[in-house]
Amino acid sequence: MSSQPTFRTPTDPGRLPMTLPLLHEKKRLGEPIVMVTAYDYPSARAAEAAGVDLVLVGDSAATTVLGYNATTPVELTDMLVLTRAVRRGLNTPLLIGDLPFGSYEVSDEQAITSAMRMVKEGGCEVVKLEGGAEAPASRARAIVGAGIPVMGHVGLTPQTSTALGGWKAQGRTAVAAARIAAEAVALQDAGCFALVFEAIPAAVTEELMGLIEIPVIGIGAGAATDGQVLVFHDLLGIRDGLGPRFVKRYANLQEEMNDGVGAFAEDVRARRYPGPEHTYSVDPAELAELQELLADRYGG
Ligand code: KIV
Repeated sequence: MSSQPTFRTPTDPGRLPMTLPLLHEKKRLGEPIVMVTAYDYPSARAAEAAGVDLVLVGDSAATTVLGYNATTPVELTDMLVLTRAVRRGLNTPLLIGDLPFGSYEVSDEQAITSAMRMVKEGGCEVVKLEGGAEAPASRARAIVGAGIPVMGHVGLTPQTSTALGGWKAQGRTAVAAARIAAEAVALQDAGCFALVFEAIPAAVTEELMGLIEIPVIGIGAGAATDGQVLVFHDLLGIRDGLGPRFVKRYANLQEEMNDGVGAFAEDVRARRYPGPEHTYSVDPAELAELQELLADRYGG
C-alpha cells in the first residue's frame, strides 16, 4: 500500500474502551463512527490497531470464513468459537456478536438464551439481530430487558434475503422505504442502542435519519449515517470478485495470499526452500556420535 495510516496501538494512553455513552456522545458531536467485522484473532488485532470504535463478529462469517454461499447455515456454536477468538484480540472497541439465523426467531426466551450465550461464552458486550417487524422488535425488547444491549439491522437483512427478493438494495419504492422507517423506529422504541442500515438508497437514508435518535451505522446506505461498516474480507480484498457496489477496496490480500502460497510451492518444487538460514544446527561432536550409534544399531 502506498500511504500508511498512523495506527493507534492498544497501549495508546488516549484511547478509552468504547462504551454506549461514548458512542452516543460521538453521535451528538457528529464524529463519524467506524465499525468493521472480524472473525478471528488476526482480524481483531487489525481492528484494534486501526482504533475502530465497533467490531462486529458478523454472521457474514458464513460466507467470508466458512465458505457457505449464504449466511443462514452458520450456527450459534460456530459464532461462539469465532467470537471468543475475536475477544482475545480486542481491548478497546465495543464487541458486537451477531445472532445467527435460527437462534432468536422462535421466541423471546430463545432470543434471550442465545444472547446470553454470546455474552457469557463468546465474550461480546452486546448483540445484533436482523429485522424490525413485530417479531424481531419483540426479540430486541426482550434481550434489552434481560440486560443485554441490542443493535438492530434494517434494509437488506441477509438472513431473510430470499423473502426480500434477493441480495439487492431495499427501500426503492415509497412503500418499501416507509416499511424500513417503521422497522427502524420500532427497534429504537424497543430499546436498541444503535442500528445498521444496509443497502438503502442514500436519499432514503437521509429522510430516515431525522426519525432516529440512536447511532445509525451504514453499509451501502450513503453518507448520511452516523458511521460506516464494511466487511473485513470485502475491504481488504480477501475474496473472489469485487463484491457489492458499496464496497471500497483498500487492499488485495487474496491476490497477495495466492502469490505467497504460489511462491512457496515453487520454492519447494525447485528445492530453493528451505535454505541454510531456515534450519537448526547441531554440535558436530553430537552428530559424529549419532552417526556411530546409527551405524552400530542399523549397520551401513
Ligand atoms: O454479518 C455482517 O457482517 C453484518 C454487517 C454487514 C453489518 O451484518
